[in-house]
Amino acid sequence: MAKIKKITAREVLDSRGIPTIEANLELDTGQHVQAIASSGQSKGKYECKELRDGDIARYNGFGVLKAVSYINNLIAEKIEGIEINRHIEIDQWLAEADGTEDFSKLGVNAVLTVSQLMLKAGAISNQLPIYEYVNQLFNTLFKKSVPLQRLPSPIFSVLNGGKHGAKNLDFQEFHVVPASSMSFSNSLEIVVSLYDNMREIFKRRNMPISVSEEGGFTPTLYSNEEGFVIIKEALHSKGLKLGVDIFTGLDCATDTYYKSGKYFLKDAGSGLKVDQYIKLLRSLVDKYNILILEDPINEEDHKTWRSLTEIIGKQTFVVGDDYTSGNIDRLKKVIEGKGCNAVLIKFNQTGTIYQLMQLADLIRFSDLKLVFSHRLGESTDSIIADIAVGLQADFVKFGAPSGGERVVKYNRLLHIEALLQGKT
Ligand code: PGA
Ligand code: ZN
Repeated sequence: MAKIKKITAREVLDSRGIPTIEANLELDTGQHVQAIASSGQSKGKYECKELRDGDIARYNGFGVLKAVSYINNLIAEKIEGIEINRHIEIDQWLAEADGTEDFSKLGVNAVLTVSQLMLKAGAISNQLPIYEYVNQLFNTLFKKSVPLQRLPSPIFSVLNGGKHGAKNLDFQEFHVVPASSMSFSNSLEIVVSLYDNMREIFKRRNMPISVSEEGGFTPTLYSNEEGFVIIKEALHSKGLKLGVDIFTGLDCATDTYYKSGKYFLKDAGSGLKVDQYIKLLRSLVDKYNILILEDPINEEDHKTWRSLTEIIGKQTFVVGDDYTSGNIDRLKKVIEGKGCNAVLIKFNQTGTIYQLMQLADLIRFSDLKLVFSHRLGESTDSIIADIAVGLQADFVKFGAPSGGERVVKYNRLLHIEALLQGKT
């Protein structure tokens, strides 16, 4: 079995122009792989922590030289020479070596880069595409027999507000979600024309065309509801029916508009109490066929999460992202309290592929829907598309169909779709 020969890391930039870690791994067979860490903008309170240098003289404190040196010295020294098929053991060693619950010592950015490298090296040394390797690994480790059947349904961001859109809108992301009966390639084609139609609408209204770092438009509108009106208008000109061909979604990311028990939305004159806010959400859900409703409630209000899921859970996936933050103990608590009926996970919330699989196992086998997501700070690496397919996630959320770092993931799904259909 191939052994890890050398690991080298360096500081590079992510899609936002913020430092991140890139690293290479060489096997003693001469095979090479490369990996890069992603990074979030609106992070959950309970997710693992990145290590940043904090030296204001370099990259405004966002440098990652310390985390890079942990890989080049401490981690490389420990794992060089080990057989690559033992990479899950190494994941567990990384957790022990760090010793904290959230990787705050080594930094989740360092751990994530190493775990990704090993996953890629495991796949090439077994001569398998990453999605197939992930699927086999998952089934073996968790004694499951999840078949590689379908591609996850895509959730596309088309409008951005909150921390992603510089406060033009309160909700962080407005999504369009093609009906799950549609093939991935068909969904992508439809959403690309819808996205183009939206650009035309803004031009007709003489509005500046601005986009967020994940590619969604960031118009300044009078209300959040107006965002849905624009999506609806763009759909009509394509002859698509809302609630039949296409659904909508929201990532509310409430922490930007929740304060001391009230929800402050531009749609209402003053702060809304919980019951008034729920009423408003319910009316949006019904009026605009919201299928995906992510982080709609403040993360500490478990009671309201549960009651909202009870009320709308038959028609809508109430998704925990910041609510669960990829933290296994937190997730167990949420599942026990029936706080949501779908959970979103991101690789860099957890750090290692082993922990990511533990989450996926718990989510899927608790009968919740699994959403696999990118981060705002991404790269042109497509590994998360493979992981989502390997784990047979129900949905993927990779941003707008625009920008190299987003499109590369959608393009990889197109390729995997063809591979699964035996077309290449
Ligand atoms: P983030 O956004 O990458 O900024 O965390 C994604 C999300 O909240 O779903
Ligand atoms: Zn989110």
